[in-house]
Amino acid sequence: MPKLNPVLDKETIALKVAELAHRISHDYKGKNLVLIGVLKGAFVFMADLIRQIDTNQMQIDFIHAASYGSNSESSGSIKLLKDVEVDIGDKHVLIVEDILDSGLTLSYLIKHLKGYNPASIKICAFINKIERRQNDLQPDYAGVTVDKGFLVGYGLDYAEKYRYLPGVYELKFDE
Ligand code: IMP
Ligand code: MG
Repeated sequence: MPKLNPVLDKETIALKVAELAHRISHDYKGKNLVLIGVLKGAFVFMADLIRQIDTNQMQIDFIHAASYGSNSESSGSIKLLKDVEVDIGDKHVLIVEDILDSGLTLSYLIKHLKGYNPASIKICAFINKIERRQNDLQPDYAGVTVDKGFLVGYGLDYAEKYRYLPGVYELKFDE
């Protein structure tokens, strides 16, 4: 069995989410904001974030993309499994991701969403993992930045397991 080393407890996560929601509320005040969660991993973060954003005109949607390859690494060939349903034309889009890793999934999704002519597109990633980035994407909003490691919990999975954990853990495989 792999080991789980604690990285973020639920109190720390709640503080980070509150900080992000505060910044987003300020930056998008008076604007038509559409939050787009990237399934599946972002659903827990998204649920916490939307309940702390102070707005009266935010819309919510989800998008789902899958990359082919192993369970722990992005392969770069990406397929869209579910598109957005809200009309994002001329609206301000904020993509909500659990973790930004290689950046390949998000660069694909940004290119796709630009086709609908939104007024702007920005990225909010709960975790910004920098070591394996393969392009120049940077999150406009990030909860925490880590160098490397495979993380699970708070929506993040390994083979669909561990998403339910309230904290974030590093998954360590036995040598
Ligand atoms: P990217 O295309 O490499 O940026 O991959 C982003 C996606 O890969 C995330 O939305 C996650 O689903 C998955 N991913 C990347 N790193 C991790 C991790 O440490 N734990 C769990 N999933 C991860
Ligand atoms: Mg995933």
